[in-house]
Amino acid sequence: MTPQGTATLALGDKNYSLPVFEGSEGEKAIDISTLRKQSGAVTLDYGYQNTGSCASTITYLDGEKGILRYRGYPVEELAAKSRFVEVAYLLINGKMPDAQEREEWSLLLNRHSMFHEDMRHFFYRFPDRAHPMAILSAMVVSLSAFYPELSQHRGDEGEEAINIAATRLLSKLRTIAAFSYKKSIGEPFVYPRHDLSYCANFLNMMFYSPVHPYEIDPVVVQALSVLLILHADHEQNCSTAAVRLVGSARVNLYAAVAAGICALWGPLHGGANQMAIEMLEEMMARGITPRQRIEQIKNSKGKDLLYGFGHRVYKHYDPRATVIKETCYRVLKALNIQDPLMDIALEMEDLALRDEFFISRNLYPNIDFYSGIILRAMGIPKNMFTVMFALGRLPGWIAHWKEAHEDPRFKLQRPRQVYVGPTLRHLEPGQCTTEPSHMPLARSR
Ligand code: CMC
Repeated sequence: MTPQGTATLALGDKNYSLPVFEGSEGEKAIDISTLRKQSGAVTLDYGYQNTGSCASTITYLDGEKGILRYRGYPVEELAAKSRFVEVAYLLINGKMPDAQEREEWSLLLNRHSMFHEDMRHFFYRFPDRAHPMAILSAMVVSLSAFYPELSQHRGDEGEEAINIAATRLLSKLRTIAAFSYKKSIGEPFVYPRHDLSYCANFLNMMFYSPVHPYEIDPVVVQALSVLLILHADHEQNCSTAAVRLVGSARVNLYAAVAAGICALWGPLHGGANQMAIEMLEEMMARGITPRQRIEQIKNSKGKDLLYGFGHRVYKHYDPRATVIKETCYRVLKALNIQDPLMDIALEMEDLALRDEFFISRNLYPNIDFYSGIILRAMGIPKNMFTVMFALGRLPGWIAHWKEAHEDPRFKLQRPRQVYVGPTLRHLEPGQCTTEPSHMPLARSR
């Protein structure tokens, strides 16, 4: 990137000149990386609300206009016309696969779908009530022990080794997710089948049982593919930023993705889908009306949230929420399901969108408000909702990890801070239990 201009910062009686870069969609960024060297000052930005940590070619997002594009393609178009595995290929490789690449990609995904048999025993050691996200993150980091080719990323592994690790992870995450569900309900594991597509295979591993054979419904397969596409990337969100940050210490791909899974688990991020459904279920069980619930949230002074609403970057609408809501209607109709939670959700949305509290704070439904209704219709239990988000987000995490490692400017990510603690002070006699004579004196170097 070459600078397109300069910005001048006045600090005290001095002016500092900083380069300005422009992205391909016209976004401007002031490069402050030399500011401390020039002036001694750092920038302060709680929650990185206005800080770009990298330049990226993967996803373009305009929160004001509600635009989301993967490698230039609108997400709505990809959701309508492509399949999740193609989108995964697009994100990781930068282009849509041609017919031959699609074929090879599917073969590779099938070839790597099983994991080392010894890893199967890990599942039996988790307590029955273990959250599947805990199992998922632990299993993903464990992959680095069984497939150590990329155990320390030195930067010289070669493209093929990285591609194999990426494919392996994409394929195995689906198997791990389904196995953790089977473990939680005490049913035997169902192994992946080579004759099934990515999404159909996942559904089969989740729901087939020798006692109740499972018929794979193309409507459900298609809806799952759409859901995973909508989750596939979201530029520098919390979990992707975690993958990049942890990856910047040059840990292997599996460890960096495990960090992403842990970040995603949080209720303000991917965990919101489970929270949203639990809220709707609780309302139904306790007879709380949408109006009462909205008032509770408004009166809670920020302690109680309407999960599935609000977003750091989308301030008018989340384009993913629009597609997910349409998909929700389609799936419920095709499967002939009348879900009372859908009615409650619709009423909540309607009330919130007309309420000054939500309007003034630009709070709109995000992807997590309706995704849970589709997942319920598919038979996915609610503690697996965030696992489904992780399955979808994986290609994005891999693409960002890969892009970062290919970037010569990828430095160890190490933010600065503004220290506001006590200034220098010394221990008083009697403050510590150790006698001063026993303590080695710190020598200045
Ligand atoms: N319900 C009620 N109030 C809210 C909500 C909500 N969902 N979201 C934000 N607010 C209020 C917040 O309390 C604050 O009020 P005030 O100005 O009176 O202090 C104001 O709106 C601004 O909120 P903020 O927390 O400063 O905004 P943010 O940009 O830091 O937060 C967010 C973004 C997603 C963390 C937040 O909107 C939220 O907690 N939403 C609920 C959780 C959720 O649905 N997360 C999933 C996000 S989409 C999936 C993903 O990509 O991760």
